[in-house]
Amino acid sequence: MVDQIQKIHDKAREEDVPIMKDDGIAFLLDYIQSHESIRDILECGTAVGYSAIRMASLRWDMTVDTLEIDPEMFAQAEKNIREAGLEERVHCYLCDAAEFSTKKQYDLIFVDAAKSQYRRYLEHFLNNAYPHTIFIFDNLAFHGIVDDESLSNNRSTIQMVHKIRKFREALLKDERFETVYYPDIGDGVAVAKRKRN
Ligand SMILES: C[S@@+](CC[C@H](N)C(=O)[O-])C[C@H]1O[C@@H](n2cnc3c(N)ncnc32)[C@H](O)[C@@H]1O
Repeated sequence: MVDQIQKIHDKAREEDVPIMKDDGIAFLLDYIQSHESIRDILECGTAVGYSAIRMASLRWDMTVDTLEIDPEMFAQAEKNIREAGLEERVHCYLCDAAEFSTKKQYDLIFVDAAKSQYRRYLEHFLNNAYPHTIFIFDNLAFHGIVDDESLSNNRSTIQMVHKIRKFREALLKDERFETVYYPDIGDGVAVAKRKRN
């Protein structure tokens, strides 16, 4: 299993599949391990299933529902999940995350899909959150460009980082959550805990 996970990781890096940075995934796994109440996880943005497989491998009682819009990524993720023997507990859905609808409630909602849609995902998946549910967002620094736009001269990247910055600022002020932002972890990770009413 360890070998298989390493192979998925190395292949993704070679092929420039944007899996989470190594320190980001280590942080996410540590967080889950230190919160035993986390059992059911929703992930927006599967890619090849690397982070979903890592999360589901932590404990036998965990489930991961993971959403991917790209059919090729989805097919690779399905294969990797099957080969890891996790198909009973990791369910991958081919869909736009913002359109995914379920009555299931999740303990952790990990958001790593379309960066410009983070606000939409947050509001949409509040319907699937318990009072104790944690939201974790990656890429809130977007390679440092959110805080230093001179790092890019691509117009669409700049438009996207404006959206990410607006979302990040709004999340940090959002009274419904207690949010901690870790700029130096992964690609800028935020952990938002719902406040109990
Ligand atoms: C950063 S990658 C996910 C990496 C993965 N979480 C990991 O660390 O192994 C983001 C993925 O989200 C997918 N994606 C982008 N927009 C999406 C959407 N609207 N709904 C679902 N998936 C989306 C992309 O195709 C891409 O595979």
